[in-house]
Amino acid sequence: MALVLNNKSLLRSQIYSAGRWLDSDSLETLDVVNPATNDVITTVPYCGAIETRRMIEAAAQAQRSWALATAKHRSVVLRDWFNLIVQNKDDLAFLLTLEQGKPLTEASAELTYGANYIEWFSEEAKRVYGDVIPQPSEDKRLVVIKQPIGVVACITPWNFPNAMLTRKIAPALAAGCTVVCKPANATPLSALALAELAHQAGLPAGLINIVTGNTEAIGAELTSNPLVRKLTFTGSTPVGKKLIAACAGTVKRTSMELGGNAPFIVFDDADLESAVQGAVASKYRNAGQTCVCSNRLIVQSGIYERFVEMLASAAGNLVVGNGIDISTTVGPLINTRAAKDVCSIIDDALSKGAQCITGGGMSSLKGSFVEPTVLTNVTREMRVFSEEIFGPVAPVFRFDTEDQVIEMANDTEFGLAAYFYTQDHGRIWRVAERLDYGIVGINEGIISNEMAPFGGVKESGNGREGSKYGIDDYLEIKYLCIGGIN
Ligand code: SIN
Repeated sequence: MALVLNNKSLLRSQIYSAGRWLDSDSLETLDVVNPATNDVITTVPYCGAIETRRMIEAAAQAQRSWALATAKHRSVVLRDWFNLIVQNKDDLAFLLTLEQGKPLTEASAELTYGANYIEWFSEEAKRVYGDVIPQPSEDKRLVVIKQPIGVVACITPWNFPNAMLTRKIAPALAAGCTVVCKPANATPLSALALAELAHQAGLPAGLINIVTGNTEAIGAELTSNPLVRKLTFTGSTPVGKKLIAACAGTVKRTSMELGGNAPFIVFDDADLESAVQGAVASKYRNAGQTCVCSNRLIVQSGIYERFVEMLASAAGNLVVGNGIDISTTVGPLINTRAAKDVCSIIDDALSKGAQCITGGGMSSLKGSFVEPTVLTNVTREMRVFSEEIFGPVAPVFRFDTEDQVIEMANDTEFGLAAYFYTQDHGRIWRVAERLDYGIVGINEGIISNEMAPFGGVKESGNGREGSKYGIDDYLEIKYLCIGGIN
């Protein structure tokens, strides 16, 4: 596939450090591979601790003046960056599909989603308010101000190479912080293209720094360097736990957006068509590779057979292929290892008695394509109940009562997103309040947007991204006690 970009400057093969494009000190590189074809798109520098440390120092220096900039100025700078991203949206979406695999329409939707965070936080920059607290004695006044936390390390995943980065960088810059970012090695190009547009938009040097390369060495520097005051991570729960532990040494603030095991509950009284549509949207988005994808479909007995029939027919109509082809609705998984992992979860279920209604394994296409799959006869003893599948596989469990389904839904260490479909208003409140999750979709399968707080409970993480709450994670509260007032 020829690389056709209108704005050729967006394909970067160097790291972005203190406003300059650089190679790694060793000149070593790593390949960026198109998961649909296994072709190498380009290479990026294979950096380690030294390059990362330099970036952290540059970010710390830049942060001192950025913290002094007015909220209005920060807002305008973010808006300029947003405008350039919107202008270059088609190229950015194309690049995203090439490195990540998702269909072009989904890549384009991610671009809009990601840019919206920048627009949102360019507005929120002007709404960071303090407080005046009633004083305990006549000679004192108590005031609270909010200040940027400092240099922020952002570690982001391959499933949303654009939006997961913008929803960290935008609130950080809006608050007066600067960032050092480590995108996933599988998908660094979207991050570097965002940096190029930040450069073209005139963002001051040192505000945004992007390093690529040795994940362990870079991660060790980001978590141990005392100049970094906060780490924000989106990725798996096991990696998140390691990062939290590594940050303990310098007591950094952490925000963690980790794994999920979302239940998708359909009650007998649901609007069935809308439930199936929601299930398809939530399950097969990004080939099932999102933390909020429905993982366990749990359907009430009265409509179980009909739901399975409709879901299987919709899943069977999805078109698996290279995301660049306009007819494709399900792209490849990120690599063959990921595809094999998903197939091993299917095989585990089949070996324990599950029935495959559609799909069932690798697609006949070469590479890491997995067929959209629907499984029935599934039980809690199977991996599909307890593990995050991260692939286009929908196991459909059965339930009879409201109490039973709440117990099943909450029977997991995860607590990111949950969904349920019902027409009963009393049940809407009862079930929403009893689900142990940070996000609940009710009669809706697509829940993510920049205006709402995204984040989980239990082992799905801490902190919230987006919304009016999202900037708080980048701010310190300072209390001023003013005495001697007569
Ligand atoms: C994720 O998978 O981590 C993010 C999904 C989303 O923002 O909708």
